[in-house]
Amino acid sequence: MQKLFVVIICFVGLQSKAQQHNFSNNYMFPKDSLVQQKLAHWQDIKFGLLMHWGTYSEWGIVESWSLCPEDEGWTQRRGPYAANYFEYKKAYEHLQTTFNPVQFNPAKWAAAAKDAGMKYVVFTTKHHDGFCMFDTRQTDYKVTSSKCPYSSNSKSNIAKEIFDAFRKDSFMIGAYFSKPDWNVPSYWWPYFPPKDRNVNYDPKKYPEKWNEFKTFTYNQIKELMSEYGRMDILWLDGGWVRPKSTIDKTVEWQRNIVYDQDIDMPAIAKMARSYQPGLLVVDRTVSGEYENYATPEQTIPSETLPYPWESCITMGNSWSYVPNDVYKPTNDIIHLLLKIISRGGNLLLNIGPSPMGDWSDTAYSRLKEIGAWMKVHNEAVYNTIPYSQNEGGNLIYLQSKDKRYLYVYVLSDKNNDVVLPQSINLKDIRIKKGSRVIFIDAPKHKIKWESGRNETVLEIPSSLQNKKAGDYAVAFKIEL
Ligand code: GLC
Repeated sequence: MQKLFVVIICFVGLQSKAQQHNFSNNYMFPKDSLVQQKLAHWQDIKFGLLMHWGTYSEWGIVESWSLCPEDEGWTQRRGPYAANYFEYKKAYEHLQTTFNPVQFNPAKWAAAAKDAGMKYVVFTTKHHDGFCMFDTRQTDYKVTSSKCPYSSNSKSNIAKEIFDAFRKDSFMIGAYFSKPDWNVPSYWWPYFPPKDRNVNYDPKKYPEKWNEFKTFTYNQIKELMSEYGRMDILWLDGGWVRPKSTIDKTVEWQRNIVYDQDIDMPAIAKMARSYQPGLLVVDRTVSGEYENYATPEQTIPSETLPYPWESCITMGNSWSYVPNDVYKPTNDIIHLLLKIISRGGNLLLNIGPSPMGDWSDTAYSRLKEIGAWMKVHNEAVYNTIPYSQNEGGNLIYLQSKDKRYLYVYVLSDKNNDVVLPQSINLKDIRIKKGSRVIFIDAPKHKIKWESGRNETVLEIPSSLQNKKAGDYAVAFKIEL
């Protein structure tokens, strides 16, 4: 116990930044009508939960990346084993023998996420380190192995427990799966030392080895798609595992990919959809047929994109659990959500569970505050689409899918409170005679308005002026 404590202290402060995933430059709308339907539904639900969880949480460090022999800020090793790469890797892999998240209770997470207004979940079934949070039969490096103390727990098939619990609460279900696997000998062949994040041998020169890896990957994905109930999203990370022909040399991290790492996505997608009709496949950054939506990371596009997209963003600074991580204020999270949906995207907000199997209190309190706000504004969040203009000053614009209503959000300043002025000018907006304007946050107040040639002016009743009108953002609903 004391040893573990020392290690945790040493690792504190290491954060994940990692490489940026860029936007799609070759988006292809899916032809399969079941995929189209699922995609349209997914675009309506706006807000999801991402969780990065694995044995790395025991050390409170960045997910997987400290194993990567590239000298980057987010790959730094710390702690007693750091001085020797191979000893470090051994110690890291040994974390399997101490992983015991006895507080794991996915029903509690699902309830908190649902209350916050989240409607889908994406969970790391396997990250780059190769540790499986599901009961795979392809490797023993998994939570259900007898080497892992948690294997004797009735909830040891963690991915399954999470998917079942969230499905019960009507979430769409997404499996994060890392294509690269830094544990399996057919990706990082022990004959050679690992060189960087990529496969460490030439797949052309050693085709049997590469075939072994392809079969391994196919079989793991098959298990996830056929034995874990209804799946909606296969979220494939590790974009350097891709056919050489798809490498985009304008993206810095793709320039260092030396080998063709084709795992035969057409076969994987076909198999996956044979079990999960309409499945969304998100082969991140490999734009084309198998990237049903784009996934900018820790960033949001500056304008509406002409295809479906989702920003994945951490609630703290790190994807994985880091003790004392600093969580974004609720105000920032709500503003992010509104900016994202006004540009036609979804927000996938990440929380990293602790080694004991729970979230920090701060994560719960953020979700509670988001939920309270969401309950008032849900009709101006879900099923909305971008308006011809996204924003202006502290205003954000959105419209209902049927285009009957315009929603105008007024954002708070730096503090959480929104204080309304005497009038609000909506530039370049004209509304028709007799339209009703409703203040969603307090509908009993009547809002008068005037529409000129180039703008509409909302007159704020004096009872609403110069005091707090709401937290984070308030909304007006305007008949178009
Ligand atoms: C970054 C991180 C990776 C994480 C991903 C989530 O790429 O490097 O570890 O899984 O973001 O989007």
